[in-house]
Order: sequence, then structure tokens, then C-alpha cells
Amino acid sequence: MAKAEKSWEKRLAGEPDELTIDFVQSLSVDKRLYKYDIVASIAHAQMLADQKLITKAEFKQIKEGLIEISQEIAEGQFKFDKTYEDIHMTIEAALVAKIGEPGKKLHTGRSRNDQVATDIRLWMRDEIEILQAKITQLQKAFVKLADKYSQDVMPAYTHLQRAQPITIAMYLLSFVEQLERDFIRLKNCSRLVNISPLGSGAVAGSTLPLDRKSTAKQLGFSDITYNAIDAVADRDFCAEFIFDCALIATHLSRLAEDWIIYSSSEFGFVRIDDSYCTSSSMMPQKRNPDVLELVRAKTGSVYGSLVAMLTILKAQPLGYNRDLQEDKIPLFTASDTVKACLDMTRAVVLHTKFDTNKISAGLEDGFVDATALAEYLVRKGIAFREAHGIVGTLVAYCEQQNNKLAELTLDEFKQYCSSIEADVYENLGAANVVSKYATEGSAGFGQAKEQITYWNKQLAQR
Ligand code: ARG
Repeated sequence: MAKAEKSWEKRLAGEPDELTIDFVQSLSVDKRLYKYDIVASIAHAQMLADQKLITKAEFKQIKEGLIEISQEIAEGQFKFDKTYEDIHMTIEAALVAKIGEPGKKLHTGRSRNDQVATDIRLWMRDEIEILQAKITQLQKAFVKLADKYSQDVMPAYTHLQRAQPITIAMYLLSFVEQLERDFIRLKNCSRLVNISPLGSGAVAGSTLPLDRKSTAKQLGFSDITYNAIDAVADRDFCAEFIFDCALIATHLSRLAEDWIIYSSSEFGFVRIDDSYCTSSSMMPQKRNPDVLELVRAKTGSVYGSLVAMLTILKAQPLGYNRDLQEDKIPLFTASDTVKACLDMTRAVVLHTKFDTNKISAGLEDGFVDATALAEYLVRKGIAFREAHGIVGTLVAYCEQQNNKLAELTLDEFKQYCSSIEADVYENLGAANVVSKYATEGSAGFGQAKEQITYWNKQLAQR
């Protein structure tokens, strides 16, 4: 391919410093946008032809040339040259080299400022779908695991102290809920993403009769932007997208932390499959949950991306500044990292086993039935505050005697509260408590079953 001249060669004297070439180029990062750049260019060229700004024959040549370039890039045949700075200039230069004069008309009424904003939005639209699919896959893995453990009980923690008994299923489904919000957040984000800035030009639009709605329609955008100055400067949607990624990472890090703790010998609640553990180079007995530790740690780079994006935007003068070129690094980092973490977490979830024997063996420690006992007293007509006090005293008494609440005799109970009857025992012990949960969304057996059915149905539709 003959080396095409750079479009601003007439304006700037001499060759740029080699350092400048490396420093300003974004090609190494943005070349992955090539497909989007090409579809947007074809739509733009089609519109130029419809508006008689180029001929039909020129459009045909442009389109065919762009498709060939797209194939060359896809097949790895294309030689990237960083002196063209970015994917936009690279493709345009390749087109001119390929088809000559008509190629020089492609950039009519367009700037890289609206071009790059369009490309990112097209990329993000796809990326959101990919992320949503991965979220759904992970949700399905959780539901599958929940179904296995719908009849098993574990302690729930607050302040990492034993709190109340719950079904393992509802514990697992709590992650499905978190991920569902992530799914919805991305959906909301796509509303702001799916708007076309194409035709906004450099900052002020164009004096040419561009039909912006036609390019928007061709590219599947739901609307166009209505202020060119804002359209080329806006990266709010990038910050929002990265925030959504950051929250996914947060949720995965909470799961990772739980399971790192739960897989320790001290807990022994879960067994992470060997395929997702590593060992120690020195201590032969070790089975380390490194995969989960890395999921936890990678959250850091996603948060970093969010801070980077917000800081890039902070106090930037309107409209486009080259600062905006740096958006792609945090964007791609956040998305790539979260995609990898979603895949990895799904694999871990699908192969994790809960040690229900170990969990049950210690389940009655820690007075997890104390709250249910207080609620039993409420049903006997005692004010909750008073009931809370009575049970608190009973727990202190049990601790002295090294007893559990369920092991107290009715006489002992009656010494503390005369309203307690023989039916108290149906309300004590972790499994009894779990079977008594009555409110919607509680962590009982019935609710778990309902929720598993709900999620199976819900997720099957995606
Ligand atoms: N590579 C640039 C970016 O990613 C494209 C726009 C550059 N525009 C300019 N006038 N220098 O934002």
C-alpha cells in the first residue's frame, strides 16, 4: 500500500518528533474499534450519496473499499502504521490508497470528534449486550447451585457474627439479585448510549445538508444528539458504563471474599474445586483460592478506571479536547476485566460444593434462633422490646450453663417468662426457624423454592 499523505500535512511544517508520534497515537488501543468505524463510515457515505454530496458510483467504491479493509484487518493482513495516529485516520488513509479520489470524499461533513464518539457508542452497545449475557450466565449458575441446596440451612452473618439461620439457596440467590441490578443498570445505560452524535462534526455541526437522522437510523440508534458542542464533548455515558462495571466488580468481590473465608479450615463451608485453586511452592498441603483472590483484587483496576474516566472529564473545557482520547484505556480495561471476572466466577460457582455436614454440625452454635424466640414471645402478646430483653437474659444464662436455647427445660424457660409454653420448641433450632419464616423475601424453605422457580422462568427468557 502506498503511503497516503496525512490530511493535515499542508498545515504543519516538517515531520513530527518520533516521541510525539508515540505519545499522541491511540491506534494501539483503538484499533479494536475498526468494525464500528467501518460501519459508521459506510452509513455516513450512504447518506452523503443520498444527499448528492457524492455520487452513487463513488459511494459504491467507498463501500467496497471499506469492506475489503475490514476483511484485511479481520484476517490479520492489514499493516497498521502508528503515524496515522488512530483507527479513523488509518482506515481513511487505507481507503484513499485503495480507491483514490473517491476515498478523499468520505470525511465530508465529518470530524474525528463526532466519528470517535459514534464508534465508542456503537462499541458500547455491543459490549453491554455481551456483559448482560455473561451476567445472565452467572445468574443461571447461581440458581442451579441454589436448587441443589434449597433444603439446607446455614448461618447468615451480620458484622461477620452469626445472626440468623437461612437456606443456602437464599444465600446464593442474594447474588442473583445483585447481578440483576447490574443487568438493569446496563440496560438503563444503553438508553443514553444509543444516541447518534454523527454529523456533529468537530464542534459546531456543518454547513452541508447532512441527514443525521438517516445515519442514525442506518446504525440502529434510537435518536440523534441535538447539540453538537455537547455531542463531541460528552463522555458521561463512558463514566456511567465504567461505574456499572465497577459495581459488577464490587458484587463479585463480595462473593469472592465470602468464599475465601468460607473455604478456610476455620469455616469449611464450601469446597472450591481443585481446578480453581492453586497450591504453594513451599507448603505441600496448601489449596489456595487464588482465582477468587484475583477476582477480588481486579476490582481495584476497575475502580481505578472509573476514577481515571471521571478525572479525564473533570474541568475539561467544552467541546472536544485530546484528553478524551484517553477514555478508551479505562473503558476497555474496565470492560475486559469485568468480562473475565464474570466468566471465571461462573466457572467457580458451577463447581463449588457446600459441605452441608460441616455446616450443620456447628449450626446450633451462636444462638441463631434467638430472634425467632423473641418473635415467638411477640406472638404470645409480649412487647418486642421486652421480648428482646427476656431472650437476651436467656442467652446469657445458656452461655453460663454451656447450653443451647433448645436444650432449656420448660421450667427453666418459665423462670424467665411465664408466657412460654411447650410449643416454644417448634420455634427453636436453626431448621425450625427457617421453616417458620413468613415474610416475602425471607430466607426460608418456601421462599427459596418460590424464588428458584421465579428465577428459572425469568432467566430462561433471556
Ligand atoms: N483519536 C482521537 C480520539 O480517540 C480521535 C479524535 C481526534 N481529534 C482531533 N481533533 N485530534 O479521541
